[in-house]
Amino acid sequence: MTESTMPGRGTPAPVRAARHPGGAARGTRRVTVLGSTGSVGDSTLDLIGRNRDAYRVVALTAFRNVEKLIAQALDLRPELAVIGDPDLHDRLAEGLRGSGVRSEAGASALIAAAAEPADLVVAGIVGAAGLAPTMEAVRNGRAVALANKECLVCAGPLMTALAAERGAALLPVDSEHNAIFQVFDHERPENVERIVLTASGGPFRRCSLAEMRDVTVEQAVNHPVWSMGDKISIDSATMMNKGLELIEAHCLFPVAQDRIEVLIHPQSIVHSMVAYRDGSVLAQLGTPDMRTPIAFALAWPERMAAPVAPLDLARIGSLTFEPADEARFPALRLAREAMAAGGTAPTILNAANEVAVAAFLARRIGFLDIAAIVEETLQRAETDAAGSLEEVWAVDRRARTLATQAMLVREDSRAGAGAGQPVPSSKPSAVASMS
Ligand SMILES: NC(=O)c1ccc[n+]([C@@H]2O[C@H](COP(=O)([O-])OP(=O)(O)OC[C@H]3O[C@@H](n4cnc5c(N)ncnc54)[C@H](OP(=O)(O)O)[C@@H]3O)[C@@H](O)[C@H]2O)c1
Repeated sequence: MTESTMPGRGTPAPVRAARHPGGAARGTRRVTVLGSTGSVGDSTLDLIGRNRDAYRVVALTAFRNVEKLIAQALDLRPELAVIGDPDLHDRLAEGLRGSGVRSEAGASALIAAAAEPADLVVAGIVGAAGLAPTMEAVRNGRAVALANKECLVCAGPLMTALAAERGAALLPVDSEHNAIFQVFDHERPENVERIVLTASGGPFRRCSLAEMRDVTVEQAVNHPVWSMGDKISIDSATMMNKGLELIEAHCLFPVAQDRIEVLIHPQSIVHSMVAYRDGSVLAQLGTPDMRTPIAFALAWPERMAAPVAPLDLARIGSLTFEPADEARFPALRLAREAMAAGGTAPTILNAANEVAVAAFLARRIGFLDIAAIVEETLQRAETDAAGSLEEVWAVDRRARTLATQAMLVREDSRAGAGAGQPVPSSKPSAVASMS
């Protein structure tokens, strides 16, 4: 380990005060996985399952997928398994009877799980629902492998300030931010000229607005490169995902907003880049597989083997890049505007987007309605300074009410126009108010 990779030296602001969380090479590392039944959870448990001597699972959490949680717990034998929906506690307890795994349920149990003694907490819950448990992990000084970008969008300054105060490392797992983390000169940030976030462009990269009007849920969740949960897949299709990532990058790295750019790169091989003032541009490349950034966080500051296909650039042949089009993807513009407005504007943006994405997944509104609802909510909600978590929660609730009103108007006019009758979603909504 060189001096510049040692925790506490040459590390970025959110990580600077971090205690060394252990490391696979230093003995068994205790890991809690919040959102273990999701896509990030699956990838995390796959890595842990292949390295059972190096990792001990402390707690696993899910929201409603109790059968999958039971199967994971019986396989990995954590100390604790928590289901968010209290109505499912009996089934969880029954499924774990005799296994030695404790079971709990409900919102406060999810938060308590994040506070269990652990070296690393993987924040893999989707949406603002993950904010309270992730904050609890930070409050307890845990190193956090942060996949849940909505946490930073809702309450970035509060979370990074608390992380610095409590010595909690924030290790970005989003592949773009993980890439930046790996090539950023944390020791001398003044040498960084700009950050370039790459984006695949999603399934509708080449579509006109008219073509996007009638896209179906199935088309929108069908990402050309990444296999992910429904919510982030829709965010990728609208490009709100890249907008949320702009705000996330601004929270994690000391770079001015106007120096964070988005570049479309359909192959998703270059995961992001950092440009320096001498003209050097450093990038992190790899096969698009979330197990690479998750492995980075699990082993940090060491490295571990990951079962990822080696990058074969000769086979791929060419890497292409093109500018992002904010006219066809207004969500990107809205996120940039919310970031510039600051205060609670990003909280409003995120809440409205969660409401709109859930409504689209439930087939109540059209694809283009998502950005329209977010824009209308941002116009109607009052933006304030985000002084405390309580204020963030209050703003989140108000924004959800306004967004729901905007959604219902669109649902009515769609039904009036004879477009798509409401059909129940095949999955329960994965997004919920954070409070
Ligand atoms: N998937 C990726 O490749 C990827 C890449 C980069 C960043 N991320 C970020 O990582 C986060 C997770 O994404 P994902 O794709 O893994 O999502 P996902 O597949 O939908 O999984 C979400 C997880 O959160 C749990 N959950 C949902 N609502 C909850 C609630 N109200 N309270 C507590 N737990 C709840 C789910 O439990 P149930 O299964 O029981 O519903 C599940 O375990 C998101 O913030 C996303 O933006 C994901």
